[in-house]
Amino acid sequence: MSPLVSHLNLYDIANVKGVVADLSHCNTPAQVAGFTGPEELGDGLKGVDLVVIPAGVPRKPGMTRDDLFNINAGIVKSLVEAVADNCPNAWIHIISNPVNSMVPIAAEVLKKKGVYDPKKLFGVTTLDIVRANTFVAEKKGLRLIEVDVPVIGGHAGITILPLLSKTKPACEFTQEEIEKLTDRIQNGGTEVVEAKAGAGSATLSMAYASARFVESSLRALDGDSDVYECTYVQSELTELPYFASRVKLGKKGVEGFATSDLENLSPFEKEGLEKLKPELKASIDKGIAFANK
Ligand code: LMR
Repeated sequence: MSPLVSHLNLYDIANVKGVVADLSHCNTPAQVAGFTGPEELGDGLKGVDLVVIPAGVPRKPGMTRDDLFNINAGIVKSLVEAVADNCPNAWIHIISNPVNSMVPIAAEVLKKKGVYDPKKLFGVTTLDIVRANTFVAEKKGLRLIEVDVPVIGGHAGITILPLLSKTKPACEFTQEEIEKLTDRIQNGGTEVVEAKAGAGSATLSMAYASARFVESSLRALDGDSDVYECTYVQSELTELPYFASRVKLGKKGVEGFATSDLENLSPFEKEGLEKLKPELKASIDKGIAFANK
C-alpha cells in the first residue's frame, strides 16, 4: 500500500506463487515477484534496500519466545548470510523470535561476512508500542491518534518495559493501573498465543506493526528528517550491547538515540529496567554463542 514500495520480493520455501498472484492484483505501484527455495533466494535479494525477516515457527500456548530459539536461530542465520552475500547494504528488520537473540545472531553473521553496519540492523519491537498505545488509550479514554508510549528493553516478557511515565499526552496513572497495564503490554503476545489456542501467534497485528516500521524506514531512506521509532538495536544507552529504545532514523539508518526517554524514570520503571537486564543479557549471550559455535 505504501507509495514508497517500488518492488516487493517475496520469499519462502513453499507456496509463494499464490501469494504473489494475489498481491499483484492490488492497484498499487509495487511490482510483486516471488522466489521459492534456497536456489532462488539470492535473486530475490539482489538490489533490495530493505529486508523484513518474519521467518520461522510461532509459539504454542505454554511456550516462551526463547523456546523457539533452536528452530528459528538456524533459519535466521542462513537468511542473513544470504542478505550479506546479495544485498549487504540493505536495512534488515528482524521479526523472528526470540528477537532478543536473533538480532545478535544476525550481527555476528554480518560481522563474519565483513558487512556489519549496526545502524542498519533492527529488531522489530513496534508491536509493543502499538499494544501500549492501544491499551493506554482504552484505559484512559484518550484519542488513539494522540497516544504515544515509548517501550524500551527487548521483546519478550519482562524485557518489554513500557515507560508509562513518558506517555504523551501526559496522564496520571494509579499504581494499580501502572502494574496492570505494564503486565498486559509485556504479555500481549501471550494473550494472542493463548486465544489462538495452538494455531500460532500474532500475525495481523504484527503485520500492521511491521508495516508501520517499514513505512517509517522507507520515509527515512527517502530523506524525511523527522522519523523516530522504538526498535531493538546495537546500543550504548545501558551496559547491554543491544537494547530497544526510541531512535532517530535517517538515510543511513540509526542516526541518534532519544536519550531523554531514559532520564527521570519512575521508581517502578527503574526497578523494571534493572530486573530485565540479566534476562536480556542471557538472550544476547545465547545468540552470540550460537553464531560463533
Ligand atoms: C508478539 O509479540 O505477538 C510476537 O512476538 C509473537 C509472540 O510469540 O508473542
